[in-house]
Formats: sequence, C-alpha cells, structure tokens
Amino acid sequence: MEVIIKDSKKSAGILGAKIIADVIKKKPGAVIGLATGSTPLGLYDELVRLHREEGLSFKEVTSFNLDEYVGLGIEHKCSFISEMHQNLFSKIDINNESINIPDGHAKNIPAMCSAYEEKIQNIGGIDIQLLGIGNDGHLGFNEPGSSLSSRTRLKTLSHETLQANARHFGSIEQVPRHVVTMGLGTIMAAKTCLLLAFGEDKAEAVYQMVEGAVSATWPGTILQHHQRAVVILDEAAAAKLKRRQYYNEVYAGKPDWQRWE
Ligand code: GLP
Repeated sequence: MEVIIKDSKKSAGILGAKIIADVIKKKPGAVIGLATGSTPLGLYDELVRLHREEGLSFKEVTSFNLDEYVGLGIEHKCSFISEMHQNLFSKIDINNESINIPDGHAKNIPAMCSAYEEKIQNIGGIDIQLLGIGNDGHLGFNEPGSSLSSRTRLKTLSHETLQANARHFGSIEQVPRHVVTMGLGTIMAAKTCLLLAFGEDKAEAVYQMVEGAVSATWPGTILQHHQRAVVILDEAAAAKLKRRQYYNEVYAGKPDWQRWE
C-alpha cells in the first residue's frame, strides 16, 4: 500500500486526478471505477478542468460506479446516479452508454447484481477503482462484517452510515436502509485501487486500514492484500498513523520514473 500525505484536500484531489488521467492517457479505452460522497469532489473538479483545458478525453472510457441506494434513481437528487451526472458526467465527454451504476430500481436485484459483475468481467476488468472510506471503515457500502471476498449484492446500512449520510437527505428517516454495492472481492479485482480520505473523522478508519490487522470488522483493511493500492490523505486523516514519517520519506524519495508530480 502506498500512502501519500498531502497538505490539503485540494492538492490531494489534484494528484488523484493526475493518477486517473495518466491511466486514460496510456489507455484511452480505460475502465474506471468511480465513487460518490464528498471525498472525490475535488478530484472530479480537476478531471473536468483537465478535460476542458488540457483536452483529456473520456470518449472511449467506460465507468462503473461502486454503489447505489435501492429505490432511488436519476429522479432523486440524492441518488448516486444523479450525483455523478451533476458532479462529473455532464461536464465531460463520456458516452452515456459507457456509464454503469447499479440500478436502484431493479425489480430483480440478484439478477442485476450478477449482470453488473458479468459486465465488468466481460470488458476485461476495472483498470483503476476510485474509493473513499466511511467513518466505520466501509468501502463502497461494504459495512463492517462484510465478506472480504464479496461480490456485487444487496446490503443493509449500519446505523453509523445512516447517520453519516442523513446530511444529504435532511433526516435519518429518509435515508434508504438498503443499497446495492460492489463487493470487496469486486473492488480487489481492480488493477489499481486509489483511495482518498480527508478530515479527522476518517483518522481511525484510515489507521485501521493502513496499520491495523486485516479484518471484516474494518473492511478497508482488505486493501492491505491489494497488489497496487494508493492511498492519498490530508494531514487530519493521517493523524493516527504511526509510520507517518516513513510514508513521507518514501514519497519524497521516489525515483523520477515513479513520480506523478
Ligand atoms: C458513502 C459511500 C462511500 C463513501 C463513503 C464516505 O456512504 N457509499 O463510497 O466513500 O460513504 O463518504 P464521504 O466521502 O462523503 O465522506
């Protein structure tokens, strides 16, 4: 796991966007896994800037989002599909038919989940998966206790996540209890995982993910088994890491050919 600690959310988002842009420049038809929540917003703004000002094209890119609320679709402002359109898709040149998000209105949820997995496999897998992390350590909506090799499926949100996401809906009662999420096994199959985390509320989950024991109790810890996981933090999210100084030394001493910036 590569841990990069930046001095601000903004510089972390810019670096994250650069890493994704590099994947697309090397492979214009890249398959990108995307995430929602407040964490990736700065990264999305930078991707939009790279598209508008530096000609980065998403025409051949295919995207797969991590998760969606059951019962919500594009008509609901808190659905992940509408969030994604608002924050990214409407501002870049990605083709509508290349956008994939679990269908919150699916009548047959298990069939939709299997088809989602099949589509990812048939296209050759995800080249880079963007991730945030929940305060309780969840990736996507894989709550504590999720199978470490799970695939796309229905999950029930924990009270902690319902509370954390109530800010978007107005009250906890309005947050859907059920969601569909890529599994931890789905995420682990991505060639690269790129996780961003900001703020002191994430410090414990980040500590567990990077330096804790691998356990379904902290789902993010599964990334310790990933062969190419890059974690970009701000100082507050990195505050509980014991090997902070070492991560900084590693990043500062990277050979030029490994550098993004
Ligand atoms: C949400 C999403 C996750 C996200 C996390 C953190 O519920 N399902 O993909 O990483 O919780 O959200 P935020 O980035 O707003 O802190």
